[in-house]
Amino acid sequence: MQKQTIIISGKNGQLGNELQDAALLFPQFHYRFFGKDELDISNASALEKLFKKYKPFCFINTAAYTAVDKAETEQEAAYSINAEATGAIAKTCNLFGAKLIHVSTDYVFDGRGNEPYKEDDKTNPVNYYGYTKWMGEKLALENNTQTIVVRTSWVYSVYGNNFVKTMLRLMKDRKELNVVNDQFGSPTYAKDLAETILKIITDLQLNDHQSNYGVYHYSNEGAISWCDFATAIRDIKQLDCSVNGIATAQYPTPAKRPGYSVMSKEKIHTTFNVEIKHWKQSLQECLAKL
Ligand SMILES: NC(=O)c1ccc[n+]([C@@H]2O[C@H](COP(=O)([O-])OP(=O)(O)OC[C@H]3O[C@@H](n4cnc5c(N)ncnc54)[C@H](OP(=O)(O)O)[C@@H]3O)[C@@H](O)[C@H]2O)c1
Repeated sequence: MQKQTIIISGKNGQLGNELQDAALLFPQFHYRFFGKDELDISNASALEKLFKKYKPFCFINTAAYTAVDKAETEQEAAYSINAEATGAIAKTCNLFGAKLIHVSTDYVFDGRGNEPYKEDDKTNPVNYYGYTKWMGEKLALENNTQTIVVRTSWVYSVYGNNFVKTMLRLMKDRKELNVVNDQFGSPTYAKDLAETILKIITDLQLNDHQSNYGVYHYSNEGAISWCDFATAIRDIKQLDCSVNGIATAQYPTPAKRPGYSVMSKEKIHTTFNVEIKHWKQSLQECLAKL
């Protein structure tokens, strides 16, 4: 049987890189990875050309404007990539009968809750990046019935820039660090997320029910503060640096962050039988490579 093709955007990002590694574990598909220089997702005609050429049965959109603070001032760029381009991808998927896996964020929630957010809980983004991602979700779902939106949070990897790598760098240079201890969430190892996405696509091929499309939450298991996360990084790597917990008010940023953005993973677990690793286990695995 001929292998079916999956197109992946944003190949140079954290998730894009991890998907290239994870693809080796799912050899039943044929993969075409594109970076921003090869496929700018805001170029609708380039998208259509690509679909005509490769006839993918699935498109994974990992490309995004991810500079959360800069998005407050670069609103046009953030909206164009995270919302409009996502809508155009969904329309193209619909035109060609392809499935869309689109990645979104816990920042669609305002963080005023105190128990894990479920997929249909009220969204109310507190920053512009979150607003653009929320609009992207809506446009992805409205324009293609075969869309799965995976909301994730606090993503890190051996690739790209992220909190884990920043902490390692700073902790090697400094004796002391201040890290916020009043924002709670769940880290996500992009390797786990990449494997989960390919597992979902595998399941969808076998069990293509319309009811399986929609929004899902995925992160590693467990809920911590950024300060807990930094402390664990320090302890696992046995670095000599004090980590002091501070309040968000002591570390102002251009974009507000939700205070509590832990998400319930029950739906993805029961629908696709996804095993979810505890954040510390995944952090240890990633740190062993850094
Ligand atoms: N990182 C997190 O903590 C986090 C948390 C929650 C959700 N997410 C979501 O998870 C997904 C993956 O995030 P990530 O951490 O892998 O992001 P990332 O490392 O920042 O990668 C995003 C990639 O998208 C590319 N890109 C930007 N504009 C593009 C365009 N117009 N056309 C094509 N590619 C473009 C970027 O290229 P350049 O670098 O060259 O611009 C970059 O390689 C995103 O949807 C993000 O919103 C991330």
